[in-house]
Amino acid sequence: MKKIAVIGAGTMGNGIAHTFAQSGFKVSLIDVNEAALEKGMNTIAKNLDRMIAKEKISEADKSNTLANISTYTNLEDAVKTIDLVVEAATENLELKLKIFKQLDQACPEAAILASNTSSISITQIAAVTSRPEQVIGMHFMNPVPIMKLVEIIRGYNTSDTVTKTIMELSETLGKDPVEVNDYPGFVANRILMPMLNESIETLYNGVAGVNEIDTVMKLGMAHPMGPLQLADFIGLDVCLSILNVMYNGFKNPKYAPCPLLVNMVQAGKLGVKSGEGFYDYSESRKAEKVSKQFLK
Ligand SMILES: NC(=O)c1ccc[n+]([C@@H]2O[C@H](COP(=O)([O-])OP(=O)(O)OC[C@H]3O[C@@H](n4cnc5c(N)ncnc54)[C@H](O)[C@@H]3O)[C@@H](O)[C@H]2O)c1
Repeated sequence: MKKIAVIGAGTMGNGIAHTFAQSGFKVSLIDVNEAALEKGMNTIAKNLDRMIAKEKISEADKSNTLANISTYTNLEDAVKTIDLVVEAATENLELKLKIFKQLDQACPEAAILASNTSSISITQIAAVTSRPEQVIGMHFMNPVPIMKLVEIIRGYNTSDTVTKTIMELSETLGKDPVEVNDYPGFVANRILMPMLNESIETLYNGVAGVNEIDTVMKLGMAHPMGPLQLADFIGLDVCLSILNVMYNGFKNPKYAPCPLLVNMVQAGKLGVKSGEGFYDYSESRKAEKVSKQFLK
């Protein structure tokens, strides 16, 4: 495996492109939005600078990594000769099905098609292609260049050979892959999201405020970050959409999103990316509590 295409240059896509390119792979980074490509490349350069400052890599490593990445706005041109695609476009079922149909047509027959989706069924994505045994989930964690875990999701039809290839490839990236089966939320989000939802429910019920809930979990459970702050970082819209996938997929009320989460998303309070969620990120990066208005 030498040539990789990464679809989407957003938060995850630029991190995935960075990680492959730093390990010596040739990467085609594709986005429909030219500005997103530019922003993605700037982010990669900045993150490489940070690694240089920490003496983890050299200036030469930075220029080699950047030289390994080419950017494209046209998918067909970018994937003609690739070995693997990692799709990291916006989390939307219709969009992903459309992209995988296009990829199936445009990629070489032997190419493996992976998705970085947080919650959409790999089996469903694979079903729109003519090669479901070559479709797999590669669920990287944010920030990709730093986080060790890759959750490798086997769709119903994913072959043993493809799974083994992707597990080994993840190891060559310096990651620790874990193989899981394709059910809603996979493993990471199936366990994480109910905890985040319960912490929002605890706030909604007026048991404690934002800082108090986060402090209990940070100091009491040795979590590096409180659950409400983590939800802000992930994006409250993303949390809501993953909970809905599990709620609908399992038909189980235990995954029902807290009404406060639904309200905040409808009000445009999406966390860090919108400048406000459970904390206020608007003026300084210093998180300030905005919890009182939500307490009953
Ligand atoms: N953000 C996270 O913490 C996180 C963690 C794990 C997995 N994921 C998953 O990774 C994927 C990407 O999430 P993100 O947070 O990077 O999103 P993002 O919004 O930051 O980036 C998505 C990018 O996809 C581009 N895009 C949209 N349609 C496209 C198309 N047809 N072709 C090419 N590019 C297209 C957009 O222009 C945008 O730049 C999602 O499936 C998400 O569930 C996200």
